[in-house]
Amino acid sequence: MKFSLVLPLLLVAANVEGNLDLPHPLALASSFSHIYHQLDKINIGNCSLANVSISLNATKSQLPVPSTNLTLKYVALGRGTQNYSCPSNASSDSKTTVKPKATGAAATLFDASCIASSSLALLHEIPALISTTPIGSLAFMATLVAQGTRSTNLIIGEHYFDTDGVPIFDMGLSGSKSWIAASKIASSPAPKSKSKSKSCDDVPWLKLGHKKGKGIQEVYRVVTSQGDAPSTCAGQKAMIQVDYAAEYWFYG
Ligand SMILES: *[C@@H]1O[C@H](CO)[C@@H](O)[C@H](O)[C@H]1NC(C)=O
Ligand SMILES: *[C@@H]1O[C@H](CO)[C@@H](O)[C@H](O)[C@H]1NC(C)=O
Ligand SMILES: *[C@@H]1O[C@H](CO)[C@@H](O)[C@H](O)[C@H]1NC(C)=O
Ligand SMILES: *[C@@H]1O[C@H](CO)[C@@H](O)[C@H](O)[C@H]1NC(C)=O
Ligand SMILES: *[C@@H]1O[C@H](CO)[C@@H](O)[C@H](O)[C@H]1NC(C)=O
Ligand SMILES: *[C@@H]1O[C@H](CO)[C@@H](O)[C@H](O)[C@H]1NC(C)=O
Repeated sequence: MKFSLVLPLLLVAANVEGNLDLPHPLALASSFSHIYHQLDKINIGNCSLANVSISLNATKSQLPVPSTNLTLKYVALGRGTQNYSCPSNASSDSKTTVKPKATGAAATLFDASCIASSSLALLHEIPALISTTPIGSLAFMATLVAQGTRSTNLIIGEHYFDTDGVPIFDMGLSGSKSWIAASKIASSPAPKSKSKSKSCDDVPWLKLGHKKGKGIQEVYRVVTSQGDAPSTCAGQKAMIQVDYAAEYWFYG
């Protein structure tokens, strides 16, 4: 089964530079090569989303459902940072009362269409797994895996903020011309996390609408893992980057 291979892959990725016990380099190489060979001729990207639908019932106040005239275009796993700023000139006393200000985010979007169409339960486990995996090692794995499979590219897009502070999602890395400059429609606090080992809270779930773009009308950020700001600026630098991961669902 396709999805049974994705999980070990992510676990291997998590071990490459993670702060878990580092495996012996040769042991890592042989297990990766093992997984890599099993992936031969398997599609792990670009699966049909015809029978996949988003579930929004995990948060206390539910986000509005997608507009009925839209179809699901992409399901992606996003991994990156949420950025915040703190006053650099404030005294350390006043910093304990100042809250960090959100200044944007940047994330790489990985194709999750095959995981989503195989098992939503598995998909929902992944943000927590990858929110601490170094971005570079995930990207490296995604490239290698895509080469060994029928999937052309598992990195399908980028998320960033433009100079006016507008969130952009650009799916150009998938070969498509779809992109959206988005605006917030609704926000809901993330459900209470089961994991106690997290160093910060999960950013809220969001529904975003269309400001500008092509091929995408609505975007959801759900099943978020980490990324929330520290509660105050005490002991913080002027620019703070907090690692996070989430599922992104795109409708157009
Ligand atoms: C994705 O799959 C469709 C048909 O299933 C195919 O037409 C398309 O070329 C594929 N896209 C990529 C980027 O592999
Ligand atoms: C979606 O579900 C319908 C009805 O169960 C089925 O006929 C169709 O083959 C499914 N499509 C995919 C891509 O799995
Ligand atoms: C949410 O909906 C799904 C089906 O869409 C269902 O399986 C699940 O039990 C629901 N969860 C809650 C908390 O209601
Ligand atoms: C979908 O319907 C909404 C209003 O219900 C409309 O604003 C929007 O332009 C429609 N989108 C498409 C792609 O037809
Ligand atoms: C810090 O700098 C900003 C603008 O650079 C200024 O508005 C603010 O008053 C300064 N705060 C302190 C505590 O000096
Ligand atoms: C956010 O931080 C990332 C580094 O993780 C950086 O590449 C990006 O430019 C920053 N974006 C904003 C809007 O601050």
